[in-house]
Order: sequence, then structure tokens, then C-alpha cells
Amino acid sequence: MPSFAGRDILSLKGFQRDEYLHVFDVAKKMEVIARERKNVDMLKEKTLVAAFFQASTRTRLAHEAAMHRLGGHVTGFADFKMTRAGDWYQESIKDTVKMLEFYGDVIVMRHFQKGAPHEAADWASVPIINGGDGWGEHPTQILSDLYTVLRDKGHIDGLRWVAVGDMRMRTMHSLGYALSEFGCPVTFISPGPGGLFPNSPDMRMPEEYKSDFRQASLDFSEADHVEKVIGEADVILVEPVVQPDYTQARQEASTDKSLTPANYKITRELLTQKAKSDAIVLHSLPRMDEIPLDVDDTPWARYWEEAFNGVVIRMALIALVLGAVK
Ligand code: CP
Repeated sequence: MPSFAGRDILSLKGFQRDEYLHVFDVAKKMEVIARERKNVDMLKEKTLVAAFFQASTRTRLAHEAAMHRLGGHVTGFADFKMTRAGDWYQESIKDTVKMLEFYGDVIVMRHFQKGAPHEAADWASVPIINGGDGWGEHPTQILSDLYTVLRDKGHIDGLRWVAVGDMRMRTMHSLGYALSEFGCPVTFISPGPGGLFPNSPDMRMPEEYKSDFRQASLDFSEADHVEKVIGEADVILVEPVVQPDYTQARQEASTDKSLTPANYKITRELLTQKAKSDAIVLHSLPRMDEIPLDVDDTPWARYWEEAFNGVVIRMALIALVLGAVK
């Protein structure tokens, strides 16, 4: 297995099974620090730069919290409109990242443009972590999700997944790559063109990713209603179908948001009537109405643990790419 030291974490495409297991192993060792709410001094000489060109609650703050837990420093921006990349200059990714690399030792970047963190990695002399790029990927989120499953069920191999939501979403693409390494069958459930409201876009898995998944021998199928397949699922991963355009830097809340159709909604009643008693529900959050609030206190909900594990996984990744752990 190649060393993680100095490595970029841009995509889960090509990420190998032993690499997942190594990250999870490091995360397990880190977990006690976060669980006991301690800060240690492992990264006291290092700085994380958070370069967020798109809004975030969890990804930015989980990386920052992870860095604080390991005793490191944090700088960066949460609103790119305060930088020269977001004003009259529209400063390029190259010029921006050629500055940021002098301000810290690892950069976590979220961008509305697919491939932006990959471009940054071409120019940066420090590791780049992809915190979500347009309709591209969200590798650290899916690492957090698989770690949550591992901690809950004791294994990942062969578990049957149902993934519900807009398949253009970056999490879904990273998910497909990850599940192919663990022999997990998955059913993707999403609206086709006009399936949400008149003229709504095609939210099915893009052909580009399906082609990659076939090449990686992922056992996947597609369905149009969660009710048909939820009973088979060990893991139910949910994302919104009512959501903003991830290629935009920012979209204001609109008053005419549609409601999520029943096909893509995980309700308490559906879980009670159809889900396996030991199935678990994941959601990377934020949510709309696809998981009503009364699911939160059911035995299926795991999204708060998933959020906690988001800090733990980022601790592991940052420590690994900075070479603080082998
Ligand atoms: N899960 C996730 O990516 O959340 P944020 O958009 O708040 O970072």
C-alpha cells in the first residue's frame, strides 16, 4: 500500500480496500480523543487551510475540529466572496492555491466546480483534501459513512445498500466507488426527468459513473420507489432530491420548494412496516423533508453518529497525509 504521507485525497476512484481499512484503523485509534473531548498535541506544528468556495456546516467545521483535536492550527475562508477569487479579479485556482500553500501544510477545498480540487492539487506542494466538488465527489463524507457502518455492524463486506436521492450528488459517486471495494450490492433510487416537478432535471446516476461502476464490478441496480427495496437493505443512505444546484457557489432559500415525493422519502411508518429491524439509516445532512424529524429517535437513525465519525475520519486523514501517523 502506498504511503499516505503527502498524498491528496481527491476521489475514491481507485482507492483500494486495504487503504480504506488502514484509514478506519487509524480512525479507531483517534476516536477516543474525540469521544473524550480532548485535544492532543500531535499536529502542534501544523496548520490546516480551509478553502471553502461553497457553503458548508459539517465538512469545514469537522476538518477544523479534527485539526484542533490533534493540536494543530487552522486558517482559511468560509466565504470566497471575501477573497480575490470571489471579487472583481476572479483570481484563478492556480494563483489562489499558490498563495494558500504558504499559509499552511494541508488544504481542504470545497468548490462548486467539479475537478477544482484536482486542479489545485496540480499546483500545490501540500496535500489537497477534496471537501466536495460540484457534482463530482465527496470522498471524506463517504469514508465517514463506511466507518459508521463498520463501527455499527463490525464489518462492511457484502452488506446490501439502498441509496435514495439525487444521483448527481457527489456523495453518491464516491459511494459507488467505495462499495465496489467491499462487494456490497446497492440499489440507487432517484427521479428521472420531470419526476420531481415539471421540467425537473434527470436525477438518475449519470452514465459516466455507471460506466466506472461496471468497470469496478459494482453490483448495482436502479429502482423508482424506495418501498420496493427497503426491506432488503442493511444500510439505507439518504440524500435530498429537493436541493440546490451544486454547481452554484450559493443559492438563497426559495419559498416555493417542492415536497419530496413518497418514492424518495424515509418515514417512520415505512421503516416500521418494511425495514429490517437491524438496518441503519445514514444521511450526510443537511436534510429537507426526505427524513422527517420523527425518524430521529427510532432505532434505525445513525446520522448523528455519522456526524461524530465525520470528525474522527478527518482526524485520521489529516494525520495520515501530514505523515504524523504511518
Ligand atoms: N455533509 C456535508 O457535506 O455537509 P456540509 O454541506 O454542511 O459540509
